[in-house]
Amino acid sequence: MSGPGGVNVLDLEPVSEDFLVEVVDGLSSSPRSLPCKFFYDERGAELFQKISELPEYYITRTETELLRRHGSEMGESIGANAELIGFGTGAGVKTRMLLEHLENPIAYVPVDISKQRLTDSAAELSRAMPALDILPVCADYLQPLQLPKSRRKPEHVAVYFPGSTIGNLEPEIAANFLRRVCRLCGKNGGLIIGVDLQKDRAVLEAAYNDRAGVTAEFNLNLLVRANRELGSDFDLPLWRHQAVYNERHGRIEMHLISEADQTVHVGGAESHFSRGEKIITEFSYKYTQEGFVRLAVSAGFRLARVWTDPQQLFAVFHFTIL
Ligand code: AVI
Repeated sequence: MSGPGGVNVLDLEPVSEDFLVEVVDGLSSSPRSLPCKFFYDERGAELFQKISELPEYYITRTETELLRRHGSEMGESIGANAELIGFGTGAGVKTRMLLEHLENPIAYVPVDISKQRLTDSAAELSRAMPALDILPVCADYLQPLQLPKSRRKPEHVAVYFPGSTIGNLEPEIAANFLRRVCRLCGKNGGLIIGVDLQKDRAVLEAAYNDRAGVTAEFNLNLLVRANRELGSDFDLPLWRHQAVYNERHGRIEMHLISEADQTVHVGGAESHFSRGEKIITEFSYKYTQEGFVRLAVSAGFRLARVWTDPQQLFAVFHFTIL
């Protein structure tokens, strides 16, 4: 299929997850939880875009600034004649900044679960960089992948995984994912990955409890989505957003707190909540630089370079293969 801007999207038809099964399972587990991957319906994606512009949410701003300041070093570190594979690179602003610093990139393969986001950003990029071979793939990058071949043979493959999205995976799942990325990169390949760093609790908790209440709306939208798509009866005013930093695990935990004793019905199942009881909706792991390097090394990578901001809020790592 040829999309606007003449870019063809290879649709690997990612299996649409069973929202109902996962919600019923999550609500009956202990502790109760709902998977964060379901945040991103149309409204959720819009709210996440707003979050990334909030004054308290330093992540997007800091990572973009690192690219602005050190993009040319990143490009040099990656090297010429690379094929860049972008995982969940979304609106593509950061990817474009990186691509602009690459010497003679052979191809760009964005992989995203959202076909619309992929089509739009690939078409925009193709207008800006018409000579670049863009091969978008609609797929779940957490699953094993067979990617298309570019017209010209690259000298090496570089995977780009920005946004600290790796932080939304539990460390064991993150390690398995990195092992797969390592195999995908192959000999001479590398990984450029953005990772949020451990810092003061106050800074972290402010970023996930913004004053404008956008993160609260993002979190509660999961219940709005369940009511709309599954016919559940979450009573929205009886739920409250909360984000706390769990220092022992080095992670922000997003919760929805029940403000009353109540019963919720989803797909024929009934869940009783007492006042103050929580549903875990997201973990966002924060790493030390050493801790993340350890994780990547255990998956088969070797640290090539790292860039951080003066306050050490965020890090962009370049790993190569051992
Ligand atoms: C997408 N991900 C890296 C975001 C994060 O910071 O963990 C999702 C998010 N959740 C609340 N605010 C932003």
